[in-house]
Amino acid sequence: MAETVHSNLDVSAAAVVASGAQLYPVGQRESAVDQVIINANKTPLSAEKRAEILAEPGFGKYFSDNIVRAIWTNEGGWQQPELVPSAAQAGGMALNALHYGQSIFEGLKAYRHADGAIYLFRPEANAVRFQRSAYRLALPPVPTDLFIGAIEALLRQDHEWVPEGPEKSLYLRPLEFGSEDALGVRPSTHVTFALMASPVGAYFPQGVKPVSVWISDDFVRAAPGGTGEAKCAGNYAASLIAQAEAAENGCDQVVWLDAIERKYIEEMGGMNLFFIYGKGTDARVITPKLTGTLLPGVTRDSLLTLAGDLGIPATEETISVAQWREDCASGKITEVFACGTAAVITPVGRVDSKNSGSWTIADGQPGEITMKMRQALVDIQTGAAPDVHNWMHRVI
Ligand SMILES: Cc1ncc(COP(=O)(O)O)c(C=O)c1O
Repeated sequence: MAETVHSNLDVSAAAVVASGAQLYPVGQRESAVDQVIINANKTPLSAEKRAEILAEPGFGKYFSDNIVRAIWTNEGGWQQPELVPSAAQAGGMALNALHYGQSIFEGLKAYRHADGAIYLFRPEANAVRFQRSAYRLALPPVPTDLFIGAIEALLRQDHEWVPEGPEKSLYLRPLEFGSEDALGVRPSTHVTFALMASPVGAYFPQGVKPVSVWISDDFVRAAPGGTGEAKCAGNYAASLIAQAEAAENGCDQVVWLDAIERKYIEEMGGMNLFFIYGKGTDARVITPKLTGTLLPGVTRDSLLTLAGDLGIPATEETISVAQWREDCASGKITEVFACGTAAVITPVGRVDSKNSGSWTIADGQPGEITMKMRQALVDIQTGAAPDVHNWMHRVI
């Protein structure tokens, strides 16, 4: 028997998607932080233990003392968010998210500036991407003020978990999943929004190092009409086998091709790609167009803007594997890099594949434009350069 899709999903989520021009809003800073009920951990980790962790945090290994979570139900909509100890769990074995994958997430960072203040980078852009992912997975969108309010509440409580030091940060992981404990295949009538925080160290503690990439000719990440532009759990589950194949072939990362022709470059693992043509003042950058099968990265969008600031022409285009290989051989492509929240910018040094051969990008070392764009973005995030685009959101 068919079951009804919950009613208040369509209206609000459709409105989010209809506002396509707003994919990267700037400065929408409404916050529901004052609505968060505080039931903080009464036995937080000792200052000593925390200091040990912050000295060498790794990535996603340790979590701060608390999380923020909010429950949504069909009847009541979003309920008041609550800050609770990290160990608090929701749901059992029949969770909709476990069986049918109704699960989305986000990733952004909180940075401690030299004066001790704590800032977020473009949180409103992550909020909107989260809402768009929710729409695609038939989940109720988390309103921007709830999204930002939850982050602010967690940071006010767990501010001591934001590390100091070059390129260290507190990684924030918002998660939304179908938490109904029932086996019906339909949108969950009980949904959980949760936010956790994990301190992270510099991505390249030994200095920026290029990665080698494996072009995935056999496995596809996303097809037109699918979930490629949503940050949903299933996309990552489907990517793991290709990442394993890349590793088997001696490569660090996988590069995805379009699903139809298997010719055009989409993105790399959990990062978007940029190709640099020419050198010095003649350099220009291109990045694959957002076709609906790529994740619209916040870093990608920020770098398109920063390229303009640096006087580097930047365009969104379609680029094929053949073009990548030929333009490297002729020397037209001088640098390639990948970008995302975790590493900011990672140079790509070498390419390998089953069907298209292997080649090196220039001398395989990090290029001048790559490092210049990386520094420009890191400087804004860490407060070393002025925030001319109103991207930084002060929390404390
Ligand atoms: C598949 C994929 N592409 C690109 C990105 C980069 O996005 P952002 O710059 O918003 O971190 C990510 C990381 O979130 C990702 O998982």
